[in-house]
Amino acid sequence: MKHKYKAFDLPENLMMGVATAATQIEGGYQDNNWYRWSEMGNIENKDHVKIACDHLNRIETDTELLSQLHCDTYRLGLEWCRIEPKEGEFSQSGINLYRKELELLREKGIRPLVTLWHFSNPLWMEDDGAWTNPKSIDRFLNYAKFVVQELGDLVSDWITFNEPNVYLTFGYFEGSWPPGKKGDIKSYFKAASHIIAAHLKAYPLLHKMSTEKIKVGVAHHLRIFDPYDSRWITKKSIQLIDRLFQRMFLDAMTVGKFLWPLKNVLKAEIGTYVDFVGINYYSRDIIKGVFNLSTLLGERLLKDGADTNDLEWEIYPEGLSRICHEIYEAYQLPIYITENGTCDSKDEFRSKFIYDHLKALSQTVSEGVPIERYYHWTLCDNFEWVEGYNARFGLFHNDFETQKRSIRKSGSFYSEISKNKKIDLDLIKRYLDS
Ligand code: FCB
Repeated sequence: MKHKYKAFDLPENLMMGVATAATQIEGGYQDNNWYRWSEMGNIENKDHVKIACDHLNRIETDTELLSQLHCDTYRLGLEWCRIEPKEGEFSQSGINLYRKELELLREKGIRPLVTLWHFSNPLWMEDDGAWTNPKSIDRFLNYAKFVVQELGDLVSDWITFNEPNVYLTFGYFEGSWPPGKKGDIKSYFKAASHIIAAHLKAYPLLHKMSTEKIKVGVAHHLRIFDPYDSRWITKKSIQLIDRLFQRMFLDAMTVGKFLWPLKNVLKAEIGTYVDFVGINYYSRDIIKGVFNLSTLLGERLLKDGADTNDLEWEIYPEGLSRICHEIYEAYQLPIYITENGTCDSKDEFRSKFIYDHLKALSQTVSEGVPIERYYHWTLCDNFEWVEGYNARFGLFHNDFETQKRSIRKSGSFYSEISKNKKIDLDLIKRYLDS
């Protein structure tokens, strides 16, 4: 039978790896907003973040898994509350956890990309207004300073913030994430302004503190919003959603351009505030009619006959290409795909997902867009925020009772691609046509 898949080479010099976030894998006690949110019973099936992947006790074996996947690079996060358990009091044992891990990565020749903040706030900060408090800017800078002092010799690639738009939408509009506010427009913009200011200050600070040339960026969650119909109101809704959910963060954090209604609290000047644009790409939404301020994103629909994953997110590989083109046109900066993956507990379509997205990526690079890295989300099944443990995005299956990780077929597929930087007919036959 003739297959519909074609062999292709990945772009020369593309670095490949996987991405994780501290809170989602570490396990154990964490004095942060997600631990409390779990205690309050707000996670699907009453799951609890303290289980996660027990990663802190399995750093060596998990690093082995990265080698098994032939990762050139690994995006990992830090848990702020372990490093600064009380405001201004830093923990040497907390930071040493990460030193040990980073040293291991270096020994194995895996280049780390470290995320400073990925949705979790220490409780001392959460209880003082989290990011709505203007003090959050200096709080973040103090934390970042300590981290770079302690780990700067092992890390040259940093992400300051992961997806501020997702955190703020769920936390302040929709209410399903901590702090659980609904339709709190004022707080959304206030917190957004402070997160953005913290990034704009952290960018020069990190550069100043580093002796070698480092790279600093932000991981943005970007979606495609396409219209359901050709009505004027639908078009306007899309423009507004795109601005409030994406463009406003992108413009401010990339080039210091502040779009209404965002406040430039530090009076930052136009300039360049990242060395790469990080894109987390998963899906698209079809928007119909009136924009709904109570949920920010309003009514989101699926395209008729769309392929979807276990969470009903549309699988739309072309979107990766559309977004990368748009971003490159806007900012002319290198792009890292800092997350891309799918929820597929039975591992039925993940290999095809990987093939289609890497194909779109390769095509986009051949059209002149400099996509330099690709991080698959994620290494192994983990704590998927309010979705808990049933939403499985891992290249490795995780048995949460025994913490035994087993590579999925799609994991082996990814490993072979990462090793050889191409998808040939033999690979297609073994992983896609069978
Ligand atoms: C992204 C998050 C990441 C993970 C994936 C599935 O929005 O950054 O932590 O939850 O979605």
